Amino acid sequence: MIRRHEIVEKRAFVLAALILVTVSIGGIVEIVPLFTIESTIEPVKGVRPYSPLELAGRNIYIREGCYTCHSQMIRPFRDEVERYGPYSLAAESMYDHPFQWGSKRTGPDLARVGGKYSNEWQAAHLVDPRSVVPESVMPPYAFLREKDLDYDDIADHLRANRLVGVPYTDEMIAAAVEDLRVQADPEGDYEGLLSRYPKAAVGDFDGQPDRLTEMDALIAYLQILGRMVDFTDIRTEDIIQ
Ligand code: HEC
Repeated sequence: MIRRHEIVEKRAFVLAALILVTVSIGGIVEIVPLFTIESTIEPVKGVRPYSPLELAGRNIYIREGCYTCHSQMIRPFRDEVERYGPYSLAAESMYDHPFQWGSKRTGPDLARVGGKYSNEWQAAHLVDPRSVVPESVMPPYAFLREKDLDYDDIADHLRANRLVGVPYTDEMIAAAVEDLRVQADPEGDYEGLLSRYPKAAVGDFDGQPDRLTEMDALIAYLQILGRMVDFTDIRTEDIIQ
């Protein structure tokens, strides 16, 4: 009688190959269905990629480590919703690479800080936080107002984001430098910019209309946070648990 299992058990290589086949069946069963799911995030109306100036500001936000004191995620609890507004939706950070959720809150959550203050307030606060919030422990960032924004490589930043799934179009990439300049220009023609990036805050941000500084970019970024999705027709009672 031929003991067929011996064929496998006495040959290490055959045994290893068959083990591999068996294990990969399990792997395939787990992994393949994931490729058929379009997205694990529910899309939400209004969420769009960052404008070039906002993206530059976001890079500065990360460079300066603002996330070490500020989170950007409002949790679905009554105290958070009453303080900061509607809780954060996954889709709102789907174009954040890397996301800025965080859990450390030395300062307040910033997920919905856009539009909460004027540009003047933001600039004064960044130059000297104590000038507007006397008890503040936030460090000053006055130097951002003195540093001209370096944006030669902004189109590459858009391209890099596109590589990881942010839907920047060829048109957006081609117009990146121009869009960046226009957004911070108090007398700019904003039509093209706003058709590509609705609701973008435009004009001078840092109180120096004739200069384009890192503070302009940072404030443009802060002013869009939480404003892409329109929550006005959603009642707070509907979303707080
Ligand atoms: C050492 C911790 C710390 C760091 C780092 C820090 N902040 Fe703050 N931030 C605070 C604190 C504390 C407050 C609350 C007091 C105040 O308004 O100044 C605050 C307040 C704010 C507010 C007002 C929020 C509101 O809803 O009133 C904004 C906007 C802000 N910070 C932006 C920034 C940005 C941008 C950076 C990085 C350039 C930054 N912060 C870095 C601690 C910090």
